[in-house]
Amino acid sequence: MNQTEQNIILIGMMGTGKTTIGQILAKELGFALVDLDAAIVAEQGMTIPEMFELRGEAYFRQAETAVLRKVLASDGGQVVATGGGAVLEPLNCEIMLSGGIVFALTADAETIIDRVRGDSNRPLLAGNAEERIRIIMDERKDAYRFAHYTVDTSRMGPEKIASQILMHYR
Ligand code: S3P
Repeated sequence: MNQTEQNIILIGMMGTGKTTIGQILAKELGFALVDLDAAIVAEQGMTIPEMFELRGEAYFRQAETAVLRKVLASDGGQVVATGGGAVLEPLNCEIMLSGGIVFALTADAETIIDRVRGDSNRPLLAGNAEERIRIIMDERKDAYRFAHYTVDTSRMGPEKIASQILMHYR
């Protein structure tokens, strides 16, 4: 791992491909991949749906903030795939902007709905997932705009998306 390189931080709605793209980027650059959701699950010893059910969303957000800050306090050379709601805490956004190059992945509602169909690991989509996606997208329509770069993933495969990010990064 090259710790002198700038971190790449991926933000965006659920279903925009942050984890998948993060894996490709990390492999390509020889960086460590930090998947924030996976780090929280490992630290808390329970799944995200369990955390939401047993402790509540506020608890999950605190854990998310703590893990994000810890990860970005260390050296560079990491690809950090955040959870879709990591941007809801304004201070997190500042920490991301100073902790690396922030890429927002976007997609249209239909693409996101298609990608998250049948997923039971995202508690915010419980019930009518399609309706929930549209509501959350509307609530967060400006939340990802602080990124250094924005890449629309709707009509591109993962390799192409990763290469667009690398073009900006290099
Ligand atoms: C969330 C997104 C999820 C996960 C949690 C909450 C959100 O991550 O952190 O279910 O608030 O958008 P992904 O964006 O990786 O699905």
